[in-house]
Amino acid sequence: MSQGILSMGFVLGRAPVIPVLAIDDPATAVPLARALVNGGLPVLEITLRTPQALAAVEAIARAVPEALPGVGTYTQAADAARARDAGARFLVSPGTTQAVMEAAAAVDLPLLPGVATASEVMRALAAGLTHLKFFPAEANGGTAALRALHGPFAEARFCPTGGIRPDNYLDYLGLPNVLCVGGTWLAPEDAVAARDWARIRALAAQVSGRRLPPAASVGDAPPQADAAWYSVAGEEDPGSADEDLR
Ligand code: 3PG
Repeated sequence: MSQGILSMGFVLGRAPVIPVLAIDDPATAVPLARALVNGGLPVLEITLRTPQALAAVEAIARAVPEALPGVGTYTQAADAARARDAGARFLVSPGTTQAVMEAAAAVDLPLLPGVATASEVMRALAAGLTHLKFFPAEANGGTAALRALHGPFAEARFCPTGGIRPDNYLDYLGLPNVLCVGGTWLAPEDAVAARDWARIRALAAQVSGRRLPPAASVGDAPPQADAAWYSVAGEEDPGSADEDLR
């Protein structure tokens, strides 16, 4: 199925939190994605930190059309085409090199490049990239640093990740230059190992605001499109989804 090219602003506008996933067992990829989507979080970053990452992206892209899977820990230009071929809709890099920016553009995938300093923000902006991953967020000054970057770089929009948890994510979402946050806490290792999809769906629903039915089997259930709070199904990228900035 051919899919349109999305803008990074559109991707970051789909949900307040992007689960960052390291998938060890490809058999968990689809039920994990369904649980997160059912909990109201359709944008998923699958990191290239496991050998099975691209197989997981492929499985999710095929079986969970409501999900918006992207490839994270994208540090090698050669991985851009592999990610696209697996069905990734966007790329996330912990840093900002010319090579990863060029390779992402060459395969028509939107890139969320990582930045931690003013110079890195300037490099990304000079390349025309205004949507940036602030990483590692807590170690680099957290919300205070993002507030300070807003002065000189008012056009930059951030998705901070690294050290973001249930007790601090709302502080980030309250900033005028933050569109969403990323984090691994939505898919705890022990919950994935136990195939506890109901727990993962509930964690997602806590941050998305989705109301869940009192008791339901989530593992194999298709996402509930009618209850979607955030959804990508059937939506067109307007190309400037973040124009209406807070
Ligand atoms: C990332 O790759 O974005 C971070 O490693 C997420 O880290 P976290 O475990 O602190 O959420």
